[in-house]
Amino acid sequence: MKKIAAIALVMMFVLTGMAMAETLKMGTNASFPPYEYYDDETGKIVGIDAEVGAAIAEKLGYDFEIVDMDFDAIIPAVTTGKVDFGMAGMTVTEDRLQSVDFSDSYATGIQSVIVAEDSDITSVDDLFAEGANYTIGVQQGTTGDIYCSDGIEDKGLGTVERYKTGADAVLALTSGKVDCVVIDNEPAKNYVAANEGLKILDTQYAVEDYAIALAKDSELTEKVNEALQSLIDDGTVAAVVEKYIPSK
Ligand code: ARG
Repeated sequence: MKKIAAIALVMMFVLTGMAMAETLKMGTNASFPPYEYYDDETGKIVGIDAEVGAAIAEKLGYDFEIVDMDFDAIIPAVTTGKVDFGMAGMTVTEDRLQSVDFSDSYATGIQSVIVAEDSDITSVDDLFAEGANYTIGVQQGTTGDIYCSDGIEDKGLGTVERYKTGADAVLALTSGKVDCVVIDNEPAKNYVAANEGLKILDTQYAVEDYAIALAKDSELTEKVNEALQSLIDDGTVAAVVEKYIPSK
């Protein structure tokens, strides 16, 4: 009798195992509209990365889960296998390529500068000018942080204040704690729309490629690239982008 019960138990596990797809976990930092942010009404993480990530998981036959964390925790989470991939408007950089592989690029990002409407900073060049001494807000660990730390702070041309989220950096700007914020252009537009008295400078700091971070030599990379390509080809990616960044 005991044997039969044991066999029944094993069968149950096998059957439920078959019914449940494996889960693909995406690490992100959900304070980065329109790529990833919490929807006010549903409390769910939405945005371009959230939807494209979900579409990739679906295409590959996985269940999908988003894990929200600090931006600078994403790459460590990928390398230690805590998540299967990182998707967070993340820029491909030489430095990051030392620890992770990147998928093909799915979007372009531009580092831009947000200032108060009446700011005396009128172009990016002002931040680098001789004798410049501005306080610059950034999100910790982002390319904005890296550029300003290397190009401005290390050269004695100003101070970089690092915040946990882009939203916190913008809050520091509206409360006058920093003179500007260097951040990706689409989030910048969102923050400027949501806060009175801010504007984005016309000149751009840097143009970059966004891609999905995966563990080095992961078997998943090729599959993710194939799924991504077919979602680009069938117009899914364009439709998601249009939903979050309407062209008109
Ligand atoms: N593109 C920038 C970078 O890779 C900023 C990304 C920030 N993303 C986020 N979800 N907070 O460093």
